[in-house]
Amino acid sequence: VNETVTPSLVPPPGTSKHLPHSIIIGVRKGGTRALLEMLDIHPEVAAAATEVHFFDWDENYAKGLEWYRDLMPYSYPHQITIEKTPGYFTSPSAPARIRAMNSSMKLLLILRDPVERVISDYTQVYFNRLENHKPVHAIEDMLVRNGALNTRYKAIQRSLYDMYMRNWLLYFPLEQIHIVDGGTLIHNPLSELQKVEHFLELPPRIVASNFYFNQTKGFYCIRSDGRERCLHESKGRPHPPVNSTVLEQLRSYFRQHNHNFYQLVGRTFNWG
Ligand code: A3P
Repeated sequence: VNETVTPSLVPPPGTSKHLPHSIIIGVRKGGTRALLEMLDIHPEVAAAATEVHFFDWDENYAKGLEWYRDLMPYSYPHQITIEKTPGYFTSPSAPARIRAMNSSMKLLLILRDPVERVISDYTQVYFNRLENHKPVHAIEDMLVRNGALNTRYKAIQRSLYDMYMRNWLLYFPLEQIHIVDGGTLIHNPLSELQKVEHFLELPPRIVASNFYFNQTKGFYCIRSDGRERCLHESKGRPHPPVNSTVLEQLRSYFRQHNHNFYQLVGRTFNWG
């Protein structure tokens, strides 16, 4: 009878599903997938396979914590469960909801130069629209309206890190929010992963040989358990060129917001 059962549907003996111990809350296009996949190298980490959107989508939140838990991976007692949903960072309701579930939650936030993030966000939407046979727009038509920076463009709004961070800090102390430098993660993944291991109080297990640079992809890929894997081709796509005047407008628009963010978190980043 058992021969008809798909093995992957049978939980390994001694495992069960747990609410997350840590959540990667964003930011969209910050390097959230790379961070989760790289953390998953750790033998004491069990990573959720998909983006759950529990705390940012009302219709999912209404389904309750058991629905949420059921979407978590099976894990052994010595493992911690981690999920990532990049939309949480910019969601007005996520901070209070996560705190209501677990006020000692450890939050991981991966950020990258806000200008780079805008262009990456545009690029993702561009390819999604192409795939869905929808009309696409040139990047400058999105960034500029009537000769001025189009500050209502969602991709620009999502890079105003200070605004969202203020909301998170109403619900969580800064010590519970570890910020991963997405720019550094691209060039030196190990250093960022070691800081995350420390923050999560995991024994150091991720090592230099877990990463190798793939010339064709132009990014680091992962070597673990005798297997090698790169992220999906939608990660690390070439970005369209942006006119230098528009780039300068973007930089100057974010300058004060970046400064505010540095003040909020007591740390600086080299974002233009
Ligand atoms: P680009 O595709 O714009 O380069 P997210 O997973 O949050 O959507 O973030 C995607 C970004 O992760 C990519 O943006 C890429 O720059 C970054 N990234 C960081 N490390 C990477 C890696 N090892 N492989 C591919 N992309 C990586």
